[in-house]
Amino acid sequence: VPSDETARVPLGDLDPETFRRYGHDVVDWIAGFLEAPERYPVLARVKPGDVRNALPSTAPDGPEPLDRVLADFERIIVPGITHWNHPGFFAYFAISGSAPGILGELLAAALNVNAMLWRTSPAATELEEVVLGWLRKLLGLPAGFDGVIYDTASIATLCALAAAREAAGLDVRERGMSGRSDLPRLRVYTSEQAHSSVEKGAIVLGFGREGVRKIPTDAEFRMDPRALVRAIAEDRAAGWRPIAVCATVGTTGTTSVDPVPAVADIAAREALWLHVDAAYGGVAAILPERREVLAGCDRADSIVVNPHKWLFTPIDCSAFFCRQPEVLKRAFTLIPSFLQTPEGSAVENYMDWGPQLGRRFRALKLWMVLRAFGRSGIEARLREHMRLARLFAEWVDGDPDWQRIAPVPFSTVVFRVRPRDWAPDDSRLAGLNERLLEAVNASGEAFLSHVVLGGQYALRLAIGNIRTEERHVQRAWEILRAEALRLGALPTHVAGGTAAAS
Ligand SMILES: Cc1ncc(COP(=O)(O)O)c(C=O)c1O
Repeated sequence: VPSDETARVPLGDLDPETFRRYGHDVVDWIAGFLEAPERYPVLARVKPGDVRNALPSTAPDGPEPLDRVLADFERIIVPGITHWNHPGFFAYFAISGSAPGILGELLAAALNVNAMLWRTSPAATELEEVVLGWLRKLLGLPAGFDGVIYDTASIATLCALAAAREAAGLDVRERGMSGRSDLPRLRVYTSEQAHSSVEKGAIVLGFGREGVRKIPTDAEFRMDPRALVRAIAEDRAAGWRPIAVCATVGTTGTTSVDPVPAVADIAAREALWLHVDAAYGGVAAILPERREVLAGCDRADSIVVNPHKWLFTPIDCSAFFCRQPEVLKRAFTLIPSFLQTPEGSAVENYMDWGPQLGRRFRALKLWMVLRAFGRSGIEARLREHMRLARLFAEWVDGDPDWQRIAPVPFSTVVFRVRPRDWAPDDSRLAGLNERLLEAVNASGEAFLSHVVLGGQYALRLAIGNIRTEERHVQRAWEILRAEALRLGALPTHVAGGTAAAS
């Protein structure tokens, strides 16, 4: 018997009129935000616990009007946001929630599709196939790669390694890995500069961190193929079973490109699964003049490119292409009776392509981004980001108190302040650059991150937000120089103009 109170509470969703009114308010808020994200500091200024302490510790007993919820969004949540959609966001890999992508997310939320089976939304599955076909062609990858959209590159790499294990014919799917005296220890090869997701995948799949051998890199932070050959030979002699190699196109630290053609030769000779992590850099291959960044990838078994990194698509959206989807599916397909459908092999059921059953309708936002900007619009934006990165690199190169640490193949510059009269190995350099980074990030106008390369602490300026213009990059350079001066790192005679301003 319901209590009086329960009986008075309205059932069902908010009525359509209420939705329409607040829907308009929210879209107006978003439009205002996208018009001038600079009104907010790019790096959140809250202290640990500030947001939590501003919120009640229990959910409300009764319904609250959305006015109040939206007011609290503005008052409590927004100040605790680090603004990835800010043109002064230069940390990690800068990303974009572009307008068409945001609209795609909104529609996907409204439809609330679970794209696990073809029949649970035929359009979601078929749009995913079509839009990945478009992306494959934009990237210049040959036919024969079939695609799936995962949430992240980390999961894509995990799935690639699961497929590699399946391809090795060890019957791990049925018999597992533990307690098997017939199973050699499995090894995966990747460079010292590879993303930590390779190791994480190895942890999850039971290879362990020791199952990942990190291959040394050359002076430009690219995998050394001769060292790869030596490592494989050593491992085979010591009883390891090499199963996969993961090359990177656009490493996290310096955006270096491993020599994929040479690595592909080795993988073919050694019968290893070749996975290419092109999460960030792969997108550059959309430019005809940069096709070479994916050279050799036509021979990869799998490749991941993240539209949510440098293709203006809201997080999360990671495109995984596989030349042997039947192996990937063999690793993951497990169909309980309640998920059996009559369509059979006439359709793809994307739940078979990975560990998760429920899947978001991510293809919609990617489709909307690709259509709203078109190939030419995407190319123009990528070219501009690379131009801005080259410009920044020129400013660094032209100033004797600054030093570039790595080449700039894409839109990320790795550099540090090194006062002209300090030796390159001066032990104060790391501390100086750390303090500089902190000071720049406190400005609210720019947010950069750092990387440690061969023991050297360096700063990274990554351009990738769709709203970043030359003036934002110029401003970052001005702030860097002003803060370096304030920290006593620059001779005072450079106090005046900057290369950018002069
Ligand atoms: C080269 C590379 N691979 C993979 C990843 C992981 O990406 P995700 O966050 O999509 O898992 C990153 C993240 O920056 C990366 O730089």
